[in-house]
Amino acid sequence: MSLMDKLVRHYVSLFLVIVSLSINCSEQLQSSQAHTLLRLQLLLNYPAVLSSWNNSTDFCNTEPTSSLTVVCYDDNITQVLIIGGNGTHLQPKNFSMDSFVTTLVKLPNLKVLTLVSLGLWGPLPGKIARLSTLEILNMTSNLLYGAIPQELSLISSLQALILDDNMFSGRLPEWMGSFQLLTVLSLRKNLFNGSLPDSFRNLENLRVLSLSHNYFYGEVPDFTSLTNLQVLDVEDNAFGPRFPLLGNKLVTLVLSKNRFRSGIPAELSSYYQLQQLDLSFNRFVGPFPQLLLSLPSITYLSIADNKLTGMLFENTSCNADLEFVDLSSNLLTGQLPNCLLSNAKHRIALYSQNCLANGNEKQQPLSLCRNEALAVGIIPQRKKRKQLAEAVLALGITGGIVGGILLVGLIFLFVRRYNSKGTVKKPSTRLISEKASTGTGTGYTSKLLTDARYISQTMKLGALGLPAYRTFSVEELEIATNNFHTSAFMGEGSQGQMYKGQLKDGSFVAIRCLKMKKSHSTQNFMHHIELISKLRHRHLVSSLGHCFECYLDDYSVSRTFLIFEYVPNGNLRSWISEGHASQLLAWSQRIAAAIGITKGIQFLHSGIVPGVYSNNLKITDILLDQNLVAKISSYNLPLLAESAGKVGHGHGHGTSTGSKDPSISSRVKFEGKDDMYDFGVILLEIILGKQLKSRSEVNSFKNQLQASIAADDSARRNIVDPAVQKACSDQSLKTMMEICVRCLLKDPAERPSVEDVLWNLQFAAQVQDAWRGDSQSSEGSPVSPSQPARMHVAFH
Ligand SMILES: *[C@@H]1O[C@H](CO)[C@@H](O)[C@H](O)[C@H]1NC(C)=O
Ligand SMILES: *[C@@H]1O[C@H](CO)[C@@H](O)[C@H](O)[C@H]1NC(C)=O
Ligand SMILES: *[C@@H]1O[C@H](CO)[C@@H](O)[C@H](O)[C@H]1NC(C)=O
Ligand SMILES: *[C@@H]1O[C@H](CO)[C@@H](O)[C@H](O)[C@H]1NC(C)=O
Ligand SMILES: *[C@@H]1O[C@H](CO)[C@@H](O)[C@H](O)[C@H]1NC(C)=O
Ligand SMILES: *[C@@H]1O[C@H](CO)[C@@H](O)[C@H](O)[C@H]1NC(C)=O
Ligand SMILES: *[C@@H]1O[C@H](CO)[C@@H](O)[C@H](O)[C@H]1NC(C)=O
Ligand SMILES: *[C@@H]1O[C@H](CO)[C@@H](O)[C@H](O)[C@H]1NC(C)=O
Repeated sequence: MSLMDKLVRHYVSLFLVIVSLSINCSEQLQSSQAHTLLRLQLLLNYPAVLSSWNNSTDFCNTEPTSSLTVVCYDDNITQVLIIGGNGTHLQPKNFSMDSFVTTLVKLPNLKVLTLVSLGLWGPLPGKIARLSTLEILNMTSNLLYGAIPQELSLISSLQALILDDNMFSGRLPEWMGSFQLLTVLSLRKNLFNGSLPDSFRNLENLRVLSLSHNYFYGEVPDFTSLTNLQVLDVEDNAFGPRFPLLGNKLVTLVLSKNRFRSGIPAELSSYYQLQQLDLSFNRFVGPFPQLLLSLPSITYLSIADNKLTGMLFENTSCNADLEFVDLSSNLLTGQLPNCLLSNAKHRIALYSQNCLANGNEKQQPLSLCRNEALAVGIIPQRKKRKQLAEAVLALGITGGIVGGILLVGLIFLFVRRYNSKGTVKKPSTRLISEKASTGTGTGYTSKLLTDARYISQTMKLGALGLPAYRTFSVEELEIATNNFHTSAFMGEGSQGQMYKGQLKDGSFVAIRCLKMKKSHSTQNFMHHIELISKLRHRHLVSSLGHCFECYLDDYSVSRTFLIFEYVPNGNLRSWISEGHASQLLAWSQRIAAAIGITKGIQFLHSGIVPGVYSNNLKITDILLDQNLVAKISSYNLPLLAESAGKVGHGHGHGTSTGSKDPSISSRVKFEGKDDMYDFGVILLEIILGKQLKSRSEVNSFKNQLQASIAADDSARRNIVDPAVQKACSDQSLKTMMEICVRCLLKDPAERPSVEDVLWNLQFAAQVQDAWRGDSQSSEGSPVSPSQPARMHVAFH
C-alpha cells in the first residue's frame, strides 16, 4: 500500500472512529429502514455481497465484515458500507440510479456511505443531498458519469468525498470551494477536464487532494492558503507549466506525468515533512536541488525523465530513511553521491541516461548533457544565427528557476540547410492516390497511415507501453530509414511520404515526412506539435516524436517529420472479412476491438484540448497490435489539416442533410457525431463480416439490422457473420445491433454519445462473457478466445 493510500485511509478511518464514538449498537431498527435496505438489495439486483440479507435479518446487530457493514444509532442507520466483488458486473439496463438514490435517501441519518464496485451507472442524482448529515461519501469503482451535482454543496457536514474510478467528466465547478469541512477530496481516474477553480483555495481543512488520472490542465491554483494540505496527487494530467505554490506541510507531492516546465523552487528544500516527492515525466528544467536527497523525512524521490541539470558530488549526503531514488533520464553531470552507490542495502537508486562519471548504469556522453542543457526550454526566434546562439547561452546560464519561460521547449531544433535535392527520394512510381478511396472526403485523411502497420516493440516499457515523446534528429531518421531508401517507403499522399524505419534500439517506427510552406513559422508549429505530442493513447497509433528541419536563413521550418509507433498485425478488416479462415476474430474479440475503437474516439474527442473531431474513421484504418489491441491509425492531425488549408470539421460523411454547409452552431453542437456514424459503419462490418462498399449498401444493411432487432433471435443470427453465429449470445448480439443502428441514424443529433456507445459495448461484453461462462461447451469460436472481454471499470 502506498504511503498516500495510508494517509488517505488514516483520515477516513479517523472520521469513522469519531462517528463510531457516538454510536451505541444495540437498538431495534425502525422497520421502515430495514425495508429500505431490502429495497436497495432488490434495486441492486441481489448482488452476492448482500446474499445474507432477508426479511428476518437484524441489521443493527449483525457482525460487520470488510465488505458489508451496517451501523445503527438510536433506531437509525448511520453507516452503510457495501463493497461488491472483483468481477462485479455493470448493473443491467433496467437499473436506475435515480430510483436507487430515491430509496437511499430514506435513510436520512446516514453519516457514512460507502458503495464500492457495485456496477452503479448513470449520473449521480442531486437528490443525494437529502442525506444532509453525510460526512463520508465513497463511491469508488462504479460507472457514474456526468457532472458532480451542485446540490452536493448543501451537505455542509461533508468531510470526505471520494469518487475515484468512475466516468465523471467536465470541469470542476467553483462551488466546490464551498465545503467548509472537506478534508479529503479524491477524484482519481475519471474524465474530468478544465482547470481547477480558484475557489479551491478556500478549502482550508483539506488534507488530501487527489486528482490523478484525469484530463485537468492549466496552472494549479495558489494553494499556500491550504495550510493543512498533506497530500497533493495530480499524476497523469496536463497541469503546468509552473511549479504549484504550496504550503510547506506537505507529506506527499506527486506531479508526475504532467506538463510542468519550470524550475524546481528552492523552498522545496525546506519541506521538512515531505516523504514522497515524484516529479517524474515532466519537463522540469534548471538545476536539481541536491538538498532534496537529505530532507529529514524523505523516503521516495523521483525526478526521472525531466531536463534537470547540475553537477552532483560524491560527498552529498542522503536522508537515512531514503528508500527509493530515481534520477534517470536527466542532464546531470559529475559524480553520483556515494550514498546512492551500492553501500545502502534498503535503498534503490536509479540514475541511467544522465552524464555521470561513475556508477554502473548506462550514461550519455558528457557533451550531450552540456549541449542539451543549453538548449532546453528555448524556442529559437527568427534571428541571425549568432544572436541566437548568444541568447541561448545567456538563458542557459541564468537557467535556474525558469518560471518565466512559459512557452517553451521542443528543444533541440535541428538546424540544417534545406537542400532542394534533399535526401528524400520521390518514388513516383509508387504513388498512392488519396482521392481514389475517400469519395466524399474534403477533410484530411491520413490514408498513408492506413497501409502502414505499426507497432511498438517497446510495448513493455512504461504504462502506455511507449517511450516518452521526444525530439528526433534528422541523422537519426536517416540512419533508421537507410537514407530514406525506397525499400523503407510505405506510401505517399498529398500530405507527404510515409517511411518505415528501425531505430537504434531495434524498435520499428512509421515516419511521416511533411514538406512545409515557407510561410509557416516555428512558433506556429509549436502549437500543433504540442497537440500531436498529446496524441498518445492505448487505442491510437500514437505519436513518438517529431523532428524539424529548418531553413538556415530565417529558421522557418522546411520539413517536419512525425514519428509514430509501428503496429504490426494488419488492419481490422483483414481480421473480420478478408482474413484466412483460421484468423477471424471471435465474437468477444470483436466486441473488445469495438470497445477499443470507442475509447480511442473518446480520447480524441475529450482526452485532449482542443478535441480532434471528424476523423473519417474507416475499418482499414484500425490496426491491431500483437495482442489484438485495436488502434486508430488515421485521425484528423491538426498540423496536416492546416497544411492542407482545411480545418477538420464537417467533411460531410454521414451528415445527410446540411452537411455541405453546416452552420457553425450545428457544427459545434454535433461535434463528434460524424465520428459516431463512421464508427457505426465499422461496427456494421464487424457484425456482418462483410465488406461494405457504398453508402447505400450501408443503409440497406442498417435497415435489415433494424428489422431483425424487432424480430427474433434466429432472424438476428441469419444476418450476423456466419463465423461467429454460434458463438455469440443473443443479448450481446442484440445490444451490438441496436447501438450500430443508432450510430447510423441520419440525424446527427440522434446518434448516441461516445459514453453511451461505450456503455452498451461494455454491456454486450459482459453478457457475452457471462453467457460464454454458461455455455462453454457450445463455444464455436474459430479463434481460441485469448482475451475474454472482461468488464474494466477503469477507462484509461
Ligand atoms: C435469512 O438469512 C439467514 C442467514 O443469513 C438464514 O439463517 C435464515 O434462514 C433466512 N431466513 C429466511 C426467512 O429466509
Ligand atoms: C417477507 O416479508 C413480507 C412482508 O413483510 C412477506 O410478504 C414475505 O412473504 C416475506 N418473505 C419471506 C421469504 O419471508
Ligand atoms: C432517528 O431518525 C428520526 C427520523 O429521522 C429522528 O427524528 C430521530 O431524531 C433520529 N434519532 C437520532 C438519535 O438521530
Ligand atoms: C480479484 O482479482 C484478482 C485478479 O484479477 C485475483 O488475483 C484476486 O484473487 C481476486 N480477488 C477476489 C477477492 O476475488
Ligand atoms: C432487471 O432485469 C433483470 C434481468 O435482466 C431482472 O432479473 C431483474 O429483476 C430486473 N430488475 C428490476 C429492478 O426490474
Ligand atoms: C473507498 O472505499 C474503498 C473500499 O472500502 C477503499 O478501498 C478506499 O480506500 C476508499 N477510499 C478512500 C479515499 O478512503
Ligand atoms: C471537457 O469534457 C466535457 C465532457 O466530457 C466536454 O464536453 C468538453 O468539451 C471538454 N472540454 C475541454 C476543454 O476539453
Ligand atoms: C564536497 O566536495 C566538493 C568538491 O569535491 C567540495 O567543494 C565541497 O566542499 C565538499 N562538501 C562537503 C560538505 O564536504
